[in-house]
Amino acid sequence: SFKAVILVGGPQKGTRFRPLSLQLPKPLFPIAGVPLIEHHIDQLSQLSGLSEILLLGFYSPDLFTDFIDRCQKTYRISIKYLKETKPLGTAGGLLAFRGTIIAGLPEAIFVINADVCGDLPVEEMVDQLPRFPDLSCLMLTTEATRQQSINFGSVVIGEDHKVVHYVNKPTTFVSTSISCGAYLMKTHVLKDLEFDDSETMWLETDVLPELAASGKVYAWHTNRWWSQTKTAAAVLYANRHYLRLFKKRYAARLCKDRAQIVGDVFIDPSAQVEPSAKIGPNVSIGPNAVIGRGVRIKESIILADAVIEENACVLHSVVGWRSVVGKWSRIEGIPLEPNPNLPFAKMENKPLFMDDGRLTPSLTILGSDVTVAPETVILNCVVLPYKELTCNEHQMRSG
Ligand code: GDD
Ligand code: GTP
Repeated sequence: SFKAVILVGGPQKGTRFRPLSLQLPKPLFPIAGVPLIEHHIDQLSQLSGLSEILLLGFYSPDLFTDFIDRCQKTYRISIKYLKETKPLGTAGGLLAFRGTIIAGLPEAIFVINADVCGDLPVEEMVDQLPRFPDLSCLMLTTEATRQQSINFGSVVIGEDHKVVHYVNKPTTFVSTSISCGAYLMKTHVLKDLEFDDSETMWLETDVLPELAASGKVYAWHTNRWWSQTKTAAAVLYANRHYLRLFKKRYAARLCKDRAQIVGDVFIDPSAQVEPSAKIGPNVSIGPNAVIGRGVRIKESIILADAVIEENACVLHSVVGWRSVVGKWSRIEGIPLEPNPNLPFAKMENKPLFMDDGRLTPSLTILGSDVTVAPETVILNCVVLPYKELTCNEHQMRSG
């Protein structure tokens, strides 16, 4: 049997995801109507022989209780939350809970970073195990550009899938193969890990480079869709791709006819949508949201209980929980996506603000409980929760 550990991190993380991560742990942020890590749980639970999924992090466990209850029922799999008392690092957490993780002696354990998304080939990875008898860890890799590769774990892959060199975030170019932050580890690796005296321990620096040097790490290279989800812009990009995956696996989740629908759209059944609204492509609308007459929404996420009043227009934006966009207002962001002219380009994970203090041009984000007065234009802004916007606002790209 197999188990899976999802490294969910904790509240100090996800700074590039503010203000959305101020109210909800980033791993629970809905993409295509489903919390980020539920996509991982969904994909993992398709695997026959998976006995348990463990969420490992330093968020308060209460934040995950309802989510776990619901997922256990939906996916018929045992899910537990393991709380680190403080951030122990990606390997430190595994060590602290090693007893629970290896209990029942599964054959191998998936370890997946919560903040990645994609069409993860978990079944293919399991199928590779018998091929490599001396394998300790199978690392999921993908292709990046030369320039972007140094922001990831860089992997030199030799003959027969063997990882001959692995270095996390190298200062100079090493390889265009990068680690996706998803591993399938043999249980004995965890069993044999030794804790040194330091406070934290990292898979990326303290465990994997050494294992790779001893020839026990293999790479499974995928060209399926994969991305990080560090920023809100990356989440809009992920929204588009998860909607596309739904079309293959859960076509019924996509909305066809509640309004004028363009392309892939998810609308929660409890949302109220006027049929004259034109919605899509690549839009997700959360529970109890209200979408008025003549509204136009495109490439956006509208979170639970938000209200978009009649004839308002929302493009390339995220509208926070309970926010209200007044009539005839326009909320617009700058579309961001990986450079389409560079094969294998990934999303740039720029910080919210540039070194000179200006906002990085990106999508517009309304935090929760924001009110936008009627007939107001909001362009390329990040708005903190509870703000009332009564006049036009924009943060233009200067220079
Ligand atoms: N439980 C726990 N405890 N989880 C943690 C901790 C910790 O102390 N610190 C980080 N994490 C989780 C994060 O939530 C995230 O899911 C994952 O571990 C890795 O986060 P980072 O340490 O921020 O690394 P990164 O995302 O910049 O890079 C990693 O992922 C890349 C792929 O997205 C590395 O593994 C790279 O090599 C890899 O390419
Ligand atoms: P579609 O993708 O089919 O909508 O093509 P398009 O070329 O019309 O899209 P475009 O990106 O130019 O604009 C998006 C849609 O939003 C258009 O259909 C516009 O009519 C509509 N739109 C733009 N601004 C506003 C606005 O302020 N209010 C409303 N209600 N709709 C708007």
